Amino acid sequence: MNFLPWVSLFISILWASAVAAIPSPTTDKRASSPFVSTSGPGFVVNGSSLKYIGTNAYWLPTLNTNEDIWNTLSNISAIGIKVVRLWAFNDVSTVPVNGTWFQLIQNGTLSVNNGPNGLQKLDTVIQMAEQHGLYVILSLTNNWYPLPLLNSTVPPINSTAFDVTPGTNNTLPRNYLSNNYGGMDLYVRQFGLQTHDQFYTDPSILTAFMNYTTQVVSRYVNSPSVFSYELANDPRCNSTLPASATCTTETITTWHATIASHIRSIDPNHLISSGVGGYLCTDCPKLYPLTPAPAPPATSPAPGNKKRSQAKPVTKEQILRERSERRRRNREAAKRAGTLVEDGVRVRGRWVSTGTKRQSTPTVGSVYDGSYGVDSQDISNIPDIGFSSFQLFPDQQSYGPVDPNVAPWQSIEQNGAQWITTQAQSASAVGKPSILTGFGLVTQSNAPSFVPFNSTVAPFAAENPSASTTYGVTSQQQADTYTSWLNTGIAAGLNGIIQYQWGQSNLTAEPGTTVSPSTTTGESPTPSSPGQAPTPQQTTGQSPNDGYSTTGSTTVQQILGGAAQSIAAN
Ligand SMILES: *[C@@H]1O[C@H](CO)[C@@H](O)[C@H](O)[C@H]1NC(C)=O
Ligand SMILES: *[C@@H]1O[C@H](CO)[C@@H](O)[C@H](O)[C@H]1NC(C)=O
Ligand SMILES: *[C@@H]1O[C@H](CO)[C@@H](O)[C@H](O)[C@H]1NC(C)=O
Ligand SMILES: *[C@@H]1O[C@H](CO)[C@@H](O)[C@H](O)[C@H]1NC(C)=O
Ligand SMILES: *[C@@H]1O[C@H](CO)[C@@H](O)[C@H](O)[C@H]1NC(C)=O
Ligand SMILES: *[C@@H]1O[C@H](CO)[C@@H](O)[C@H](O)[C@H]1NC(C)=O
Ligand SMILES: *[C@@H]1O[C@H](CO)[C@@H](O)[C@H](O)[C@H]1NC(C)=O
Ligand SMILES: *[C@@H]1O[C@H](CO)[C@@H](O)[C@H](O)[C@H]1NC(C)=O
Ligand SMILES: *[C@@H]1O[C@H](CO)[C@@H](O)[C@H](O)[C@H]1NC(C)=O
Ligand SMILES: *[C@@H]1O[C@H](CO)[C@@H](O)[C@H](O)[C@H]1NC(C)=O
Ligand SMILES: *[C@@H]1O[C@H](CO)[C@@H](O)[C@H](O)[C@H]1NC(C)=O
Repeated sequence: MNFLPWVSLFISILWASAVAAIPSPTTDKRASSPFVSTSGPGFVVNGSSLKYIGTNAYWLPTLNTNEDIWNTLSNISAIGIKVVRLWAFNDVSTVPVNGTWFQLIQNGTLSVNNGPNGLQKLDTVIQMAEQHGLYVILSLTNNWYPLPLLNSTVPPINSTAFDVTPGTNNTLPRNYLSNNYGGMDLYVRQFGLQTHDQFYTDPSILTAFMNYTTQVVSRYVNSPSVFSYELANDPRCNSTLPASATCTTETITTWHATIASHIRSIDPNHLISSGVGGYLCTDCPKLYPLTPAPAPPATSPAPGNKKRSQAKPVTKEQILRERSERRRRNREAAKRAGTLVEDGVRVRGRWVSTGTKRQSTPTVGSVYDGSYGVDSQDISNIPDIGFSSFQLFPDQQSYGPVDPNVAPWQSIEQNGAQWITTQAQSASAVGKPSILTGFGLVTQSNAPSFVPFNSTVAPFAAENPSASTTYGVTSQQQADTYTSWLNTGIAAGLNGIIQYQWGQSNLTAEPGTTVSPSTTTGESPTPSSPGQAPTPQQTTGQSPNDGYSTTGSTTVQQILGGAAQSIAAN
């Protein structure tokens, strides 16, 4: 048996190189810290690099028992997922009868709920995440809080009633939808103000929000399982409340810098991130201009070396050039297959825009041109912002034009892949890691549960007039698209990719909570109408689903599990 010495020699070489790779604590104190920190374009924990697949479970603190939280985190970690993104806010304007709430915002006065149905629920989630070796991204507020579409002829069921889909009495419990946890518009309304962007600028609201962040952040200063504090989900100028005429990308960037600096003053240990959709404004003036790239290295990196070097900032010309090259490749493939379609001739269902006339001057589209009042490159470059982040939700906005020479879902897949590589480049230009904090595609089976983020209505629910329209991709198309995006993201050097959203069954149901008793198995809860005789209720239920849940799809879980292995090895 003479291989043993070789093995031990090999191990000692590995050990020596590993030791050599760890910077000494005096040169970089944070590198050997149990808190996640960054080193250039990567994350570091205890001196090791970290890349991960994650999932979203905004509803975790609303579950009714600790066993439910524990089982959910067990199921998540069992497939190799490392990070769970969730809502660390739950604002109400009247105290609900049942269920979790974190902060009462009433007529300009705030109070935080530190009780067992308040922030203690968040404490439990974070403790249990730590016991599972999971990290959490804690989002601190939401851009979206649409008011319920109340039908005045149907009495609302107190604060548990949220939605009345037109023509029906379909009510969803409070906190069932991700956009029903309070947030910016609740502050604005309860402070007697009018425009959404007053959340970012009004001094009283700024003070109030900083007060809330103080109370959350100071609870977890020493918890290594917090991956980052995310300032807001999807912040932008507009919401259900309109934007004022003065809201610009600088408004949103300045707010990020202010809140990030406030959090940094309380918590020196954790990363701070944005939660923005990733909208770019390539031509906007910058509050945080890029520093010029250092002189190129004398020797170019060896072929196949995936290490990212500082990239050039994204330009409009580049976006358009990449698109036209892709279009040409798709045309050539279609020509070979004998399926060539001239632009705009063949109408392919809902995905084809009605205005099919050729554009003489192509535009990059709203996600790249500053239309949303967001310049995510400028936000990523704020010193207190630890990494660049973006989202990918093609059911909610367009990431590029439809190409008639591929199937509609393939246009979505290809535009999404370009969005991912562009975001990796944008992060590289600022020299920080890049995380896709949420991505999802609505399938035909999930379509009845789909509620857009600025809505309280499920347009394709069975009770609704438009339910007859087939909406969404097939499960196979979803699987193919997810696989493509995950592979694209891993190859482009993304440091984390977080699917939206986890689905969990066998949860304890209680009236007036996100997991309410229902009379049917495997469907959204449909509480009985007031005045009706109580129907037999079952005591278990499923986690909320606003159109993207994995409940019932082991395929998506398998794809995520495979990607988790692949990204860790990358
Ligand atoms: C980092 O090191 C600390 C102290 O040894 C340990 O408790 C912790 O589990 C480590 N964290 C990771 C992610 O390895
Ligand atoms: C997943 O959760 C269920 C409860 O919903 C639990 O019975 C099961 O043991 C969990 N699986 C794992 C792998 O933790
Ligand atoms: C709201 O606050 C204002 C100013 O503090 C007060 O005048 C008003 O009465 C309050 N309204 C309600 C409904 O409490
Ligand atoms: C800050 O929060 C505390 C606890 O909820 C509350 O008592 C206090 O009034 C708040 N301060 C401001 C300025 O909102
Ligand atoms: C509405 O709230 C009141 C007081 O909180 C309660 O007594 C009543 O039962 C609630 N109604 C319904 C339909 O839940
Ligand atoms: C309100 O509900 C009533 C009774 O279900 C229904 O007839 C009416 O069409 C609804 N109105 C709207 C605007 O949905
Ligand atoms: C809605 O509720 C009202 C009052 O409970 C009832 O009369 C009506 O039939 C319900 N409509 C539907 C469509 O279920
Ligand atoms: C959100 O919905 C409201 C109400 O339908 C609408 O007035 C508003 O313009 C929408 N905002 C955005 C950003 O789509
Ligand atoms: C707000 O939304 C409206 C309608 O979608 C749009 O026209 C406007 O440009 C948006 N404003 C900002 C500042 O984002
Ligand atoms: C459902 O959850 C309960 C309580 O956590 C657990 O005892 C039971 O084993 C679970 N059943 C399944 C099928 O996962
Ligand atoms: C609150 O919970 C209790 C006990 O489960 C239940 O009887 C009651 O109907 C619930 N109230 C609401 C408004 O959901």
